[in-house]
Amino acid sequence: MRIIVGITGASGVVYGLELVRALKKHASAYVYLIVTRWAWYIMRLEADRRLVDEVFSLVDEYYPEDELDAPISSGSSKFDAVVVCPCSIRMLSDIVHARADNLVARCCLVALKEGRKVILVVRETPLSENMLELLHRASRLGVHIVPACPGFYHRPVDIRDQVRFIVGKVLDILGIEHDLYRPWRMMSGHGSDQ
Ligand SMILES: Cc1cc2nc3c(=O)[nH]c(=O)nc-3n(C[C@H](O)[C@H](O)[C@H](O)COP(=O)(O)O)c2cc1C
Repeated sequence: MRIIVGITGASGVVYGLELVRALKKHASAYVYLIVTRWAWYIMRLEADRRLVDEVFSLVDEYYPEDELDAPISSGSSKFDAVVVCPCSIRMLSDIVHARADNLVARCCLVALKEGRKVILVVRETPLSENMLELLHRASRLGVHIVPACPGFYHRPVDIRDQVRFIVGKVLDILGIEHDLYRPWRMMSGHGSDQ
């Protein structure tokens, strides 16, 4: 499996970092990583440097957002899916409006025209009407929207549990088996492991 991960400048870059880890651990996926300029800014604010270094050591190919002539910029590149995680509203807007002047948006547009999966882990709150319209239009284009809204029914004990819940939802859409969260009714007090 060949997956493009785009990390954009929304809060929650740790979702993208954890996603790369999970793709390697659970699918031995070939991972292309693109990090936007604003994602680098947020990464310096939010992420532990050791985690960033570890994740970069796992990535197979890295591209900056302005490398529009990268191999993955073309439909002839046989990647399976693009996950933008986290996805800024700005990037969502580029994708909906088919603006391909950065590599993350370009790869999403290529995936859509080639009938491949696009998953956007959008993070913003609260959402205004025009943001909701963008999400609606993206959904109608066939984009999978996974809002960065962790559940609590799996009883997370720390932030990593909450991050892993969202990453698990992305892996579900990609059809990858994982143990990132326990499904409802396999929880203590609700079923088989009681
Ligand atoms: C500290 C900080 C947090 C931000 N958090 C978000 C966010 O959660 N969601 C969002 O859509 N934009 C957020 N932004 C705004 C984006 O960074 C901005 O729209 C930027 O242009 C996104 O660029 P990119 O899509 O090329 O990565 C944040 C900006 C800063 C400085």
